[in-house]
Amino acid sequence: MCGKSCLIILCMFIATEFVAHAQLSSKKRKNQCEFEQPDCGFCGKRINVTLIARNTIREPLFEVTADVTRVHKRELLSFLEIAAQTASEFKFVVSNAGSGYQVESINGLPRSNEEQWQILSNDIPLECGVSNYITRSDDTIVFNFTSTLQ
Ligand SMILES: *[C@@H]1O[C@H](CO)[C@@H](O)[C@H](O)[C@H]1NC(C)=O
Ligand SMILES: *[C@@H]1O[C@H](CO)[C@@H](O)[C@H](O)[C@H]1NC(C)=O
Repeated sequence: MCGKSCLIILCMFIATEFVAHAQLSSKKRKNQCEFEQPDCGFCGKRINVTLIARNTIREPLFEVTADVTRVHKRELLSFLEIAAQTASEFKFVVSNAGSGYQVESINGLPRSNEEQWQILSNDIPLECGVSNYITRSDDTIVFNFTSTLQ
């Protein structure tokens, strides 16, 4: 029933599936910063993201939230810029750290040797900074002012 050419097609199909799976799993093994990066720059689909800046350790304490909706999937820094335009508490300063931008301050609160703006996506600390992390649909990004001393 299944002739020689049919077998070849079947083998090609299996090989293609195998390669696709291998690529997918190698993609998954990379850190969150390289995962799901749109190949086409800013043509990613429009997504909704919630940004929260939280300071629970230095007076005056604050927590501000910004919903950034229907923005093309792209790096986190762009979402932070939009948040700063809609909520003045999100005004921030970044510095060029060579491999990308580093958050220096949010809402006038600067990082120091002992404290930093840690970034979490759905409670998981980011392995990279605002210019390398590609924000995902329905992400809740928390900028948590935290002590670096343990
Ligand atoms: C984003 O939120 C808007 C409402 O503000 C909603 O209409 C839209 O479906 C949401 N998009 C996604 C991708 O969740
Ligand atoms: C946020 O920072 C505070 C102060 O360092 C810390 O107690 C808290 O555990 C942090 N939250 C998360 C989710 O890491």
